[in-house]
Amino acid sequence: MEKTSLLKVLADAGLGSRRQLAGAIREGKVTVDGQVITGFNSPVDISRSRICLNGIWVKCCAEPRIYLVLNKPAGVLSTTADEPNRTTVMRFVPAPYRDYKLFPAGRLDKDTTGLVLLTNDGEAAYRLTHPRFEHEKEYIARLDQKLDTGDAGRLERGVLLDDGLTYPARVKDWGRGGDNRYSIVIHEGRKHIVRRMLAHLGYKVVALKRVRLANITLGELGEGQVRELTRKEFEELSC
Ligand code: URA
Repeated sequence: MEKTSLLKVLADAGLGSRRQLAGAIREGKVTVDGQVITGFNSPVDISRSRICLNGIWVKCCAEPRIYLVLNKPAGVLSTTADEPNRTTVMRFVPAPYRDYKLFPAGRLDKDTTGLVLLTNDGEAAYRLTHPRFEHEKEYIARLDQKLDTGDAGRLERGVLLDDGLTYPARVKDWGRGGDNRYSIVIHEGRKHIVRRMLAHLGYKVVALKRVRLANITLGELGEGQVRELTRKEFEELSC
């Protein structure tokens, strides 16, 4: 991650002469991510840090990194491409974020609902979605029938699909029971993976919703709604 000295960042943002800005730093008027920093050569990462002068957020020259959590409705495509007559996740990006080059970090099937992270941070997206980093994804799957205990065990051991063995999943009943809903936790992102794992065992997925990606949960976010990732979530993600 590229780092620049705090003084240079402030100077590049055109906030005053170097002398004035060095004085402001020395006097404790500058914070980085909420901490007062008095060393003007302190290295900062402008793509990630929130720098404030006199309590006002400094717009750095590099484009700020944006992380939005969307609860994707069914029927919506996880793509940035313009799809005439088809709704994509980009349609849900609120106006203030539309000038940033956001894209979905990973895809959900058109009919899968739930958590999609929209960002312009390519590195974070890569780390979040690449199986090597083993970030968990939790899905709630409603099936056409009760999941047999033996089949849950097969999912937990891994099933052999056309493109290889699946990594062990964690499976448990979800909800009040009786409506064939199960929580399935995996950390791979192969296409249609949950539907294919279940189809392999003879089940049809009636509805599929992603409720968690690593430490980011959907919570009470309604369908079609968007929220910013909190700083705490970002820090815990450590990506
Ligand atoms: N697995 C699927 O089958 N579909 C998704 O959208 C996500 C995971």
